[in-house]
Amino acid sequence: MEELANVDPSDMAAMVASFPLMLKATTLSNEFLSEAIRIRNQGLDGICIVAMGGSAIAGEICKEILADSSEVPILCIREYILPKTVNRRWVVIAVSYSGNTEETIAAYKEANRRECSVFVLTTGGILNQISNDLRKHMLPPTFQPRAALPIILAGILPLLETLLNLEITNLPKLSVELAKKAAGWEQLPRSPKEMAHLLKGKIPLLIGWRHLIPVAYRAKCQFNENSKVFASISQIPEIYHNEIEGTRSCIDHPISPVFLRSQEEDEKTKMGIESAAAIFQENGCHPEHLNLRFDSRIEEALGFTMYLDMVSVRLAEILGVNPLSVERIAQMKRRLRD
Ligand code: F6R
Repeated sequence: MEELANVDPSDMAAMVASFPLMLKATTLSNEFLSEAIRIRNQGLDGICIVAMGGSAIAGEICKEILADSSEVPILCIREYILPKTVNRRWVVIAVSYSGNTEETIAAYKEANRRECSVFVLTTGGILNQISNDLRKHMLPPTFQPRAALPIILAGILPLLETLLNLEITNLPKLSVELAKKAAGWEQLPRSPKEMAHLLKGKIPLLIGWRHLIPVAYRAKCQFNENSKVFASISQIPEIYHNEIEGTRSCIDHPISPVFLRSQEEDEKTKMGIESAAAIFQENGCHPEHLNLRFDSRIEEALGFTMYLDMVSVRLAEILGVNPLSVERIAQMKRRLRD
């Protein structure tokens, strides 16, 4: 993939800008897909994706996108262990960009012990060494795992769609559409830069609905890892039953609620969001409604993800921090190993 080779892996803004390009940066081989079809034909009871951090988000987004069409449960597990329900009639997809994440390796081993059908997506590391070639897809390396989200998604989504016998999403087309939309964002009144200025000195509270719930979570992680700030998440309609009661603390804490608004919202959802936003406002918080226009559910999920990734990098610039370094995560991994 020649164009991808021009993306500088030491420049987070450049990696985020190449989000659409990354969506078409990997293609599953025929042998790999034949394995998926063979397992589908045998019958499967569920699919469990095991991954951590940046490698886990793509699975969470795919799970929500396919929620209305999958006839078997899809679980996303960020843990060393698998739920008891995952047995030999389940497919397990282990995703670790580096291939060296101990939780994912442990869950991978456990899946093999339980004789599940295990697929692997990685760029190398231990996971590459210990896994079966036929069910392994090598992802293009060199990026930070979180920046590689579109690459990981371009591996997981067609695998899930094949296992579930669903229509395969046209990722090259999606890539073109997304690039077109992104080209207009700098001209928006709420450009990514403008949004980053608005969030400076605040605690972003990202609020999603349905397929935008994992997107809100992804944005929280990007604010943590790229901008080095604390951030929080909530979801519709759950927020009506807890956070809303905590809005009184808006007086003492600079919370900045951001509602990710979907074009798929029905009237009841719209009304609920407006009411929740009004309660935040009455208690001294100033909620933002992020409205971006997209043509499909998947485009909406990925578009919001890319836009918020850009905001997190802009915020890092404003705060004078390096969006690339993840010293504390590396330190934590060392402590877990020692
Ligand atoms: C770093 C990042 C992290 C990693 C996580 C798991 O860019 O996003 O959240 O994704 O530490 O590592 P991998 O993805 O290599 O399994």
